Amino acid sequence: MPAKLRFGLIGLGEIAYKSTGHVLERCVRAEAVVGMDPVDHIAASYQARFEIPCSTSLADVLSSPDVDAVVISTPHNTHVALGIRAAEAGKHVIVEKPMATTLEDADALIMACRMAGVVCSSKEGSVRYQPATARAKELIKAGAIGEVMATQVFGAANKPDSYWTGGYSGRVQTTWRKSKTESGGGILLMNYIYDIYRLRYLTGLEVARVFAEYDTYRTAVEVEDFIAVTLRYMNGALGTFMAGSSAPGASKSGVRGTRAVGNRIFGTAGQIVFEDRGLLVYTDNEVEGLKTGEWTELPFAEAFGDQSYVTYFDRFAKAIAEGTPVDIPCEEGRKDLEVFLAAYRSGETHLPVDLPMA
Ligand SMILES: NC(=O)c1ccc[n+]([C@@H]2O[C@H](COP(=O)([O-])OP(=O)(O)OC[C@H]3O[C@@H](n4cnc5c(N)ncnc54)[C@H](O)[C@@H]3O)[C@@H](O)[C@H]2O)c1
Repeated sequence: MPAKLRFGLIGLGEIAYKSTGHVLERCVRAEAVVGMDPVDHIAASYQARFEIPCSTSLADVLSSPDVDAVVISTPHNTHVALGIRAAEAGKHVIVEKPMATTLEDADALIMACRMAGVVCSSKEGSVRYQPATARAKELIKAGAIGEVMATQVFGAANKPDSYWTGGYSGRVQTTWRKSKTESGGGILLMNYIYDIYRLRYLTGLEVARVFAEYDTYRTAVEVEDFIAVTLRYMNGALGTFMAGSSAPGASKSGVRGTRAVGNRIFGTAGQIVFEDRGLLVYTDNEVEGLKTGEWTELPFAEAFGDQSYVTYFDRFAKAIAEGTPVDIPCEEGRKDLEVFLAAYRSGETHLPVDLPMA
C-alpha cells in the first residue's frame, strides 16, 4: 500500500462538500487531512461531516508539515493568488476549473509553481478518465472516424434563480457566479470547459481561431446566459458550441441531466456521439468492437460519475510519488481557458480572434 498524498482543502463550499470530500475518502493514494474556509459555519460543518480539522485560517493549511498538496475550490478569480501562496509554501497545487480568469493570471500560477518546484494541475482534465471519453480516445486511435472534420457541443440548462446566489445546493450564500470579474464568464466558462478539454484531448487538435456571439436574455446576472461559438482548428476542422443556462424545459443542470450530451465528433470515416449513458459510434472502417457501415451503441454504467475524480486524484498522487509528469498540467488548463477567453473577446468585438491570443 503506497503512502497517501496528503491534501489540504482550500474552500469548503459546494464542490468540496458534495464531491471532493467523498472522492478523497475513496482514493487509494490520496487523502484529505485538513481544510479551511473563511466562513466559520462552512468550516465547522465540513469538519463535522468529514472528520478532518477545519478552520478559517489559510495558514493552518499552508504551514502544516502534514500537507503535501492543496485543492483550491473557491470563486474563480481567487484561484491564482491562493495557488501562488500554496506553491510558495512548497505545496503541489490542484486547482478547480477554470484555473484562472485571465491568461496573465494563468501564467503567473504556472510560473510560481515552476519556480517553487511543485506540480500544478487543472481539474477539468479529469473528464479524460470517464469511461466514455477513454473509449472514444481508443476508437479514434484505432481509426474509427478517420480524420476529424468537425466537432459539435450542444447543451442547455435551466438554472434556477437560487443557483446564482447559492449554487445547486445552497450550501454557501454568495454572489460570485453572477459577477463577470469574479467568475470570468457564464455557462461557457463555468460548465463547458470540460468539453473543450475533452475535444482537445480526443482529437489532439488545438484551436486556431474563434468567433462568438453571446447575450444575457432571462437572468439578472452580468455573465452570458446563452452563447454561440464557432471554432476553426489548426488542421482546418470546424467546431461549434451552443450553450445556455436559461432554457425553459431543460433540467437545472443540463439537458437530460448531463452537460456532455451533444458532444459529437465528425470524421472522414465516421462519427462519435456522447449520449447520456455512453457512446453512439458510426464507422465505415473495420474496427474491433464496432459494426462496419452501421451505428454501434456502447453503453457505460458510469458515464459521468465521481469515479473519474478518484482516478484523477490517484493518478496525480502516483505521478508525484514516482516523480513523473502529471497527466493534466496547468498548461492544459491555460489552453482551455484561452479558447473561451477568445470567445468572450470575440463576443465583445464581433470579430474573429486568432490563437494564440495577442
Ligand atoms: N458546484 C459544482 O457543482 C462544481 C462542480 C465542478 C467544479 N466546481 C468549481 O469549484 C470551485 C468552487 O465552486 P463551488 O461551487 O464549490 O463554490 P461555492 O461558492 O459553493 O464555494 C466556494 C467556497 O470558497 C470559499 N472562499 C471564498 N474565498 C476564499 C478564499 N480566499 N480562501 C478560501 N476559501 C474561500 C467560500 O467561502 C466558499 O465556501 C469553482 O472553481 C467551480 O467552478 C464546482
